[in-house]
This record gives sequence, structure tokens and C-alpha cells, in this order.
Amino acid sequence: MTLKVKNVCCIGAGFVGGPTMTVLANKCKDIVFHVVDKDKSKIEQWNSQDLSDLPVYEPGLAELIEKRRDKNLFFSNLVKESISKAELIFICVNTPTKKSGIGAGKASDMKWIEACAREVATYAEGETIVVEKSTLPVKTAETIKKILFSLNKENYDKKFSILSNPEFLAEGNAINDLENPDRILIGGDDNEAISLLEAIYLRWVDKNKILRTNLWSSELSKLTANAFLAQRISSINSISALCEKTGAEIKEVSKAVGMDSRIGSNFLSASPGFGGSCFKKDLLNLIYICNYYNLDVVADYWQKVIDINEWQNKRISKIVTEKMFGTIYKKKIAILGFSFKANTNDTRESPAINVCLDLLEEGAMLKIYDPRVKSNQIEQEIANNKDKNINYEGQWLKVENIYESFNEADAIIILTEWQEFQNLNWKEISSLMKKPSWVFDTRLILNPEILNQYNFDLWSLGSTQ
Ligand code: UDX
Repeated sequence: MTLKVKNVCCIGAGFVGGPTMTVLANKCKDIVFHVVDKDKSKIEQWNSQDLSDLPVYEPGLAELIEKRRDKNLFFSNLVKESISKAELIFICVNTPTKKSGIGAGKASDMKWIEACAREVATYAEGETIVVEKSTLPVKTAETIKKILFSLNKENYDKKFSILSNPEFLAEGNAINDLENPDRILIGGDDNEAISLLEAIYLRWVDKNKILRTNLWSSELSKLTANAFLAQRISSINSISALCEKTGAEIKEVSKAVGMDSRIGSNFLSASPGFGGSCFKKDLLNLIYICNYYNLDVVADYWQKVIDINEWQNKRISKIVTEKMFGTIYKKKIAILGFSFKANTNDTRESPAINVCLDLLEEGAMLKIYDPRVKSNQIEQEIANNKDKNINYEGQWLKVENIYESFNEADAIIILTEWQEFQNLNWKEISSLMKKPSWVFDTRLILNPEILNQYNFDLWSLGSTQ
């Protein structure tokens, strides 16, 4: 290869493609980045003059967009043109779990990947490096390779190299993760192509943080990293239930366990369960692959991590109902936080969805507050997830002002650890709510002493205080 990277194309303007290309554009001002997506309205939002209207909320993202947009960073629907210009193409499309057919409920839906590969095969010109960034089942690169090569068998003008370069960014911290990555993983067998991609990262990442592996190791490492992280959360959540029975305090246990340097202190916060687009999907993928290779015991092992997570979601709604005298019918409940964690507007697989659905089914009236999630997003999540033909219309309301949610409320449930929930005026809240005033803290962000002072009936996850 005698390639020099001048134009980069990223297919997919979502939670990974948007922030990643923005950071790359800021680090490589001599390279032009085209982020393309078929979704017209999404592209319009990325190009919106109103930076609070970007489709992805990430701290620090809007500032970088303002700096680079229309200079060396472009968002458009020009898929064909951008592919043909690019020497380097990132595939950042989503791969949701299949809803029907073979592997339904477990395998990833590869239709967008295949469509992308076909477009790249058709429109790419000359030498092109194709980088798989979406988290994909192991051996997907093989499929992409097959499509690229079989569609261009007789065409000697086109040459492709396929690399796997998984994204490890965590939403809500994406810009920081991209600017200060723990490691960069590049899988592939074409050393020249790897070096070209590596050269981009070397502009701001230490060489010793860049790891070269074969394609399959790179793909499997991403699934494994997410499975291990999810496993830690399920482990600590399982212990949170034991704490509630025994009188141990989960925060104290987490701290004590995390101080063991072999274990480490990250990812040991008890919660209503993990959410987000990756953990469940990647675990399901891992389970699917294990079953495929007849490793059923291994598959069962990882399945339990998902089971504990769902059990934890259910536990919350059950405890809320039990505490509130066994019935929440027509009771008013303020839900604080709907995104799957703080600092993101993403609601995919958010534990709030299951908790709210259970409460709605019991007949509760919900006022939902989230600083970044829009009302139609909540509506979609509630509608998508119901098994029955009920849309719970009139039973829930999104409020724009947090204090509105406390008016005449019987209970408050904290589901996401947004900073603003830590600085509430509990004196005022106490005057707004009905008595008894229940507060359920599933993220352990409240100070029990202050709540006791105003006579709240506080329940904290993993605690008997
Ligand atoms: C995750 C991985 O961290 C990232 O490397 C990968 O690329 C994509 O998946 P993300 O889903 O954005 O990132 O968020 P993360 O911060 O990992 O949180 C996932 C879920 O776990 C959230 O619902 C969070 O609230 C929960 N969590 C996290 C806990 O319940 N307890 C913890 O201690 C940490």
C-alpha cells in the first residue's frame, strides 16, 4: 500500500460515530472527516445551529463540534460520494439484537453491516482500508471481507484491507475516553494498513497503549471486556440484596472489596441494573457464540449475569410496592432519571424502562423527570416494551421542572445518578409531598441524615439504614 489518508468516511452518525469522528477531526486537522447516515433528520440535527439540539448529548461534544464542523468535519447523507473519496472508512452502524429468525433474542442483526459492506464494495475507489468499529460478533470481519472481495473479483483497481478497531468509550464520558484511552486495539493481518490507522492515533496516544492483534482476538476482546464489566455489576448487585437482609452496607462492602488492588475499585457501584446498548447485547452475543460451539456450560455462566440484572430491575419495583403498603394503585410517584446512566440522553436498555413499566402495570401515576431525555423518547420506550396492548396513556407525564414532579407525590424513586439530584432542597420537597413521603434511592447518592431530618421514609439499595 502506498496510501496516504486525506479523507475519512464514517458510516453511521450515532452514539459512537458522531463523538469519535469529532474527536478525530479535532486531533487530525489535516484530514477531512465525512460522517454519513441515511437518516436525514439525524444529519439535520448534527448540522443544527442550535448546539443543544445535537442527537447525542455528551459533555464537551458541542464545543468540539462548533470548532470543527464545516472545517474538516462534515455530516451529510452523501453516502456514495463520501465512500468513493475515502482512503479510510469506519463502519459505526448499530447491530441490535435480532428480533426474529435464527438466533432471535441473542444474535446481532447484521443487516446494516451487510448493507454497509455492499455499499463500500460498490462505491469505494482504489485502495481502501475498512475499519470495523461497531461491536460485532466474532468473525464478522470475515463476512465483510467476503462481500468486499466477491463483489470485486474481476476488479483489479480496487484493493481492500479490513481492520477491527473496537470502540471502548463509555457514554457520558465519551470525549474524555476518546482523548485519554486506556488502550487502542487494532486487529488485522495487513501490517501496512494497521500502521496507517495507528499513525492517526499516535498523534495523541502513547505507542505502548496501542495493541496489535489478529482480527478475531480484537473482536472477542471487545465482547469479553464488556462481559467482564457487566459481570462486576451483577456481582455487586447480587450482594446488595444480601446486604439488605443481613444489615451489611453495600457501600462499605464495595469500598472494602475494591481496595484490594487485584480487584480494583471501578464498576462496583450497586444500581438498579446495568443498561446501555452494549452490555446486554454483547453478553447475548457471547452466549450465542458459546452455544454455537456447543459450550453450553459457558453459555449458562454468562446468561446468569443477564438474569441477575433482570432480577435486580424487578426487585426495585417489588420493594417500592411492598413498602408503600402493598399497593401503588393511583399513587403518585416521581421518577428521577430515565437515561441508562448520568450524563447521557441514551435510554437504550435503561433499567428505568422496566421499573416504570412494572409500576405502571400496578396502576401507579408517574411524573418522570430527566434533564436530557425527551418526552417522545420515553413514550417510545414505554410503547416498545409493553407485551400487552396497553399504552399507559394518561398514567405518566414527563415534567420539565423537577420540583413539579414532587407536587402531591407519595414517593420519589431515583434511578439515575445525575448530579442535580444530589443538590435538592429536601425541606421544600417535604412541604410539597404527601405523608408519609417515601424516597427510594437506587443509586446511593442521597445523604440519609438530611432526609431523616425532614422525616422522609428513605429506602437505599443494599442498605438497612
Ligand atoms: C460500556 C463500556 O464501559 C464501554 O467500554 C463499551 O464500549 C460500551 O459499553 P456504556 O454502556 O456507555 O459503556 O456505559 P458504562 O459506563 O459502562 O455503564 C453501563 C451501565 O452499567 C450503566 O447502566 C451504569 O449505570 C451501570 N453501572 C456502571 C453500574 O450499575 N455500576 C457501576 O459500578 C458502573
